[in-house]
Amino acid sequence: MTEPIDDDLGPDESSEALIAVHWREEGYYPPPASFVAQANAADPAILDAFTEDKYPECFNAYADLLDWYKPWHTTLDTSNAPFWKWFVGGELNASYNCVDRHLADKANKAALIWIPEPESEAHAAITYRELYNRVNEVAALLRDFAGLKTGDRVTLHMPMVPELPIVMLACARLGVIHSQVFAGFSGTAAGHRIADSGSNVLITMDGYYRSGDLLDHKIKTDEAVEAAAKEGQTVDKVLVFRRYPGKYSAQTPMVDGRDFFVDELLKDYKGALVEPVSLPAEAPLFLMYTSGTTGRPKGCQHSTGGYLSYVAGTSKYYQDIHPDDTYWCMADIGWITGHSYIVYGPLALGTTSVIYEGTPNYPDPARPWREAVKLGVNIFHTSPTSIRMLRKVGPDEPAKFDYHFKHMTTVGEPIEPQVWRWYYESIGKGEAVIVDTWWQTETGGFLGSTLPGIHAMKPGSCGPAALGIFPVILDEDGNEVPQGSGKAGNICIRNPWPGVFQTIWGQPDRFVSTYFAKYNKDPKSTDWHDWPYFAGDGAVQAADGYFRILGRVDDVINVAGHRLGTKELESAALTVPEVAEAAAVPVVDDIRGRAVEMYVSLKPGYAATPEVEGKVRDAIVTDIGKIARPKNIWIVPDMPKTRSGKIMRRVIAAASNFTDTGDITTLANPEVVEKIRQQVQSTKVAKGEVPRELSETELAEIKHFGSE
Ligand code: WTA
Repeated sequence: MTEPIDDDLGPDESSEALIAVHWREEGYYPPPASFVAQANAADPAILDAFTEDKYPECFNAYADLLDWYKPWHTTLDTSNAPFWKWFVGGELNASYNCVDRHLADKANKAALIWIPEPESEAHAAITYRELYNRVNEVAALLRDFAGLKTGDRVTLHMPMVPELPIVMLACARLGVIHSQVFAGFSGTAAGHRIADSGSNVLITMDGYYRSGDLLDHKIKTDEAVEAAAKEGQTVDKVLVFRRYPGKYSAQTPMVDGRDFFVDELLKDYKGALVEPVSLPAEAPLFLMYTSGTTGRPKGCQHSTGGYLSYVAGTSKYYQDIHPDDTYWCMADIGWITGHSYIVYGPLALGTTSVIYEGTPNYPDPARPWREAVKLGVNIFHTSPTSIRMLRKVGPDEPAKFDYHFKHMTTVGEPIEPQVWRWYYESIGKGEAVIVDTWWQTETGGFLGSTLPGIHAMKPGSCGPAALGIFPVILDEDGNEVPQGSGKAGNICIRNPWPGVFQTIWGQPDRFVSTYFAKYNKDPKSTDWHDWPYFAGDGAVQAADGYFRILGRVDDVINVAGHRLGTKELESAALTVPEVAEAAAVPVVDDIRGRAVEMYVSLKPGYAATPEVEGKVRDAIVTDIGKIARPKNIWIVPDMPKTRSGKIMRRVIAAASNFTDTGDITTLANPEVVEKIRQQVQSTKVAKGEVPRELSETELAEIKHFGSE
C-alpha cells in the first residue's frame, strides 16, 4: 500500500490478517436446465480453452467478438511492466463496435429502452438506427462546437437518461476520453474530478427524477466549476441537456457565454455524420474515478481495445447476453458496473439494454416487477443493497407478476446467503441462474464468478475465478495461503487480463505503489509473473476452489456498493473550523451493508453541540454527496492513538459495532477507549441502534479496519 505500515503494530497484530474464517458451508444450486439449454457457455471445453498454458492468447477469442480496422500483432506486451498493453498494433473504435456495426442486421431493434421515473411518462425506445443518428449528431457538436478532439478529457455529470450513453458513445467516436461522475456526487466532488482530469468542458443535465422529486441538478454546475477553478482548471463550456427539451427545469440561472442548452445547439447538427476515429487498442476510452487510501481520487484509465474486448467477452459468457435478450441492469452508469454492463458490454453484443431513471422502490416496491413484465426483461442485474431493500419493503411483490428471468446478477458487495436465497427463490422464482460477480472499478470486468451454464452456484461465494484469471491469496509477507484452505488473506490476481486499467490518470507512481508494489520483488522485471495485482480485498478459498470475498482490507468503506475513502470523508469533516481531528469508520447496516460513522474531536474552547454535528454532516454532503451522509457523528473528547500519533480506527469501529476492541495496551491513551465506548453505546442503546450479532466476515472486517 502507499501508506507506510504503522510501526506500532506488533508482529501479532499484522499476522492476524491470516485468520481462519469459519462459516457454514452452503449447499450447491445447479443451474436450471432451461438456462443451460440456451447458454452461450454450456460446454466445459471452454474452461480448457482458458487454462494457463493457453494464456494470454486465449483472450484473442474476446477480441474476436469485435470489429477491428486493423488486426493486432501482439496479444500482450509486458515490456513496460506493470503498464500492460493488450492487442498491440490493433486499431478499432468503440462507438463503431457498439453502434454502427449493428445497423446491418439490427437497425430497427431497440438498443436502449429508457424508463422515466414518473410512471405517467412513456418509455423511450431508441433503435440502433436512432442511436446511430443521435451519437453522430452529438459527436459533431462535441467536435465542432465544443472543440473536443482525440485525447481530450471531458467530464460528464449526468443522471440515468439515454443522453448519458449517447454522449459516452459520441466521445468514443472521436477518441475523446469521457469521465462520467455519478450524478449523486456533489458539485464539489465533480469539480475535483474535473480538475484532476484536466477537462475544460462539463456536460450535465438540468434535472432528473429521484423518489418522485424533479431534482435541480444544474445547481451543482456552479459549485463544480468553482471547485475546479480553485485547483487551477478553467471550465470554458457547460453543455446542459434538458430533461424536457425546450423547457428548463432548474432554478439555477444559466451563465451567459459558458452554459448552453444542448437541445438548442443540436438544431445545427441535424443529420450530421462523423466518421469514427480509428484508434490504437491502447488509446484510453474513459476515466472512472474511485476512492482509495489517500484523499485524492483515482482516475482509473481504461483502454479501448482491451477493455471493450473484456466486457464483450464477459457479457457474452457471464451475463449470457444474446442479441434477442432484454437486459436490465439497475446499477447507475455513473459507476463502473454501468459503464461495463449497461453500456459497453451489452451494446457491443447488440442487445437491448434497459435504463431506469429513478429509485427501484418508487412509487412502490412492485415497480421493478411491473417494468419487467411490460418490457419482457429476461436478464436482471442488481446489488445486494437493492435486493435487501426490495426484500424488506415488498417481500411478496415479485410473486404477483408474470415475468420470467433466465439470469440474474448480484454485484458490488458480499451477499449474505439468506439474502441470496430470497433473490433466487422470490425474485428469480427458482427459474433464474444467479451470478455473484466480484470485480472492481480498476478491473474493468468480472474477476470471480461462476460460469452460469456450467458451474453450480453457492450462496455467499462468488465462485471460481473468471476465464483466464489466475488468483492467489497471499499473506502479509507474500506467502501463498494454501489453496482451498479456507484461510483468509489478500486476494491478488497473478496475471494481467485485457480489462485491467492502464494507469491512474496523472499518478503512474501511485498506480504501481497501490496495486503492484506490495508483492513485487523485482521492480525491473518485465515478466508478468513478478507483478501480482493487489486487489485490496480479503478473501478465502474453499476446498471446491470457490472464493468468498470478505471485503476491503484498506481504508475504504463500501456503502450500498459505493466505495467511500475514509480520507475523503475525514478531509470533508476537517473543513469545519471547530474540528481538530476526524476519523470515519464503517458500521454494519442491515440494508446498505455498511454505513459511515464519523468521529470528531474539537479544537480547544469549542463545545460539542448539535450545531457542530450539523456542520460536519453538511460538509460531507457538500464535499462528497448524500450517499456519504454519516449515520452518526460522535463528538469525542479525544481519539485513540498509537504512540506515533496514528488514529486507531479499528478501536472506534469496534465501539460503533459493539465488538471487542482488542488489544489496546500499545495505545498512547488507552483510557479514552472506555469513555468513547460508553458514550457511543449508551446513546445507541437509547436510540435502539444495537446491531444484531455480526457474522464472522463482518467481525473480521471491523477487527482489521484501518490496520493497513
Ligand atoms: C466489493 C464494483 C463481494 C469489493 C464492481 C471490491 C464485492 C469493491 C463484490 C469494488 C462481490 C464487488 N462480492 N464484494 N460480488 N463485487 N465487491 O470499484 O470489496 O465500486 O473491492 O466496483 O466492491 O467496488 P467498485
